Amino acid sequence: MIEFPPRLDLANLPTPLTELCNYAGGPADVSIWIKHDELTGMEVSGNKIRKLEFSIAEASLQGCDTLMTCGGIQSNHCRATAVIGARLGLKVHLILRGEKPEVPDGNLLMGYLSGATITYLSQAQWSFHEQKAAELRAEYLRMGSKAFFIPVGASDEIGLWGYIAAAAELKQDFEDLSIDPEYIVCATGSGGTQGGLLVGGKLFDMNAKCVAFNVSDDADYFDRKIKEDVTLWKQRYEIDFDLNSIDIQTAEGYLGPGYGKADPCVFDTIAELARADGIFLDPVYTGKAFHGMVSELNKGEKGAFPGVKNIVFVHTGGLFGVFPQQQNFSFD
Ligand SMILES: Cc1ncc(COP(=O)(O)O)c(C=O)c1O
Repeated sequence: MIEFPPRLDLANLPTPLTELCNYAGGPADVSIWIKHDELTGMEVSGNKIRKLEFSIAEASLQGCDTLMTCGGIQSNHCRATAVIGARLGLKVHLILRGEKPEVPDGNLLMGYLSGATITYLSQAQWSFHEQKAAELRAEYLRMGSKAFFIPVGASDEIGLWGYIAAAAELKQDFEDLSIDPEYIVCATGSGGTQGGLLVGGKLFDMNAKCVAFNVSDDADYFDRKIKEDVTLWKQRYEIDFDLNSIDIQTAEGYLGPGYGKADPCVFDTIAELARADGIFLDPVYTGKAFHGMVSELNKGEKGAFPGVKNIVFVHTGGLFGVFPQQQNFSFD
């Protein structure tokens, strides 16, 4: 039995696992299931809250009164940290990549509304964001505050626990529904969701393979990143785990024009799923991954999913990312 470290109770768990009933974009002989992690809790919905339950528990253990984290202007993770910080009475400082927009929208607006302090770094300055965080932490210390730094996406050896725990939850879901899916699919951006599902899948002896669609970087990057995070996790928590036992499968080919930008086909898929089943994906993460999954399912021998009959798509949230890109949807 694996022993979990201290964890806050923030998310509404377990999230539902339901079969897609009306969407007709996939092959007729495959059941697509949605793990509804967009419902982990209204404003703080999405995958980040699962990781932050562990990261913020660690921050409290270390006696910190401030959370500091970083990401893109429309980072769901930064918004989730800002909202949770407000709920828990912790100060939040976000370091965001890009120029300050004239009017904040989507996740950024939520960050401001939640009272977060925001520092912007230009693309050129971004490679020094961890150094900037260290300087800011030193400033907080001088002011009598202790800031806890959470890396991009809370994807590190602490945040990894979030989707290890989610894998245990999925295993229970499968038992409850008497299904044995061959694949679990997610979007991968900073690697923590994919890494956690892979480790959890091994620890809890699941049959389903995890296949992730990259929304930034490439398969080699996720290979390295996940191995690094898992190695640090093994060391920090003194866990005997064979790194080579996980099969890191990152399906490339659906990144489109790059991180945060999507081709028209992704917007079409988002609109199709919303119309068919009232489920909302976003163009940065879930829309791209879902579009990739369905495109593969429609290939010969079912593309990246040989032998598939039941497939689970982890809906990791991201709804606020739709609004800043509303001009890309076309309605006849
Ligand atoms: C909505 C959403 N889905 C998926 C991801 C990818 O998760 P991860 O960063 O754990 O790879 C993110 C964050 O990057 C996200 O905000």
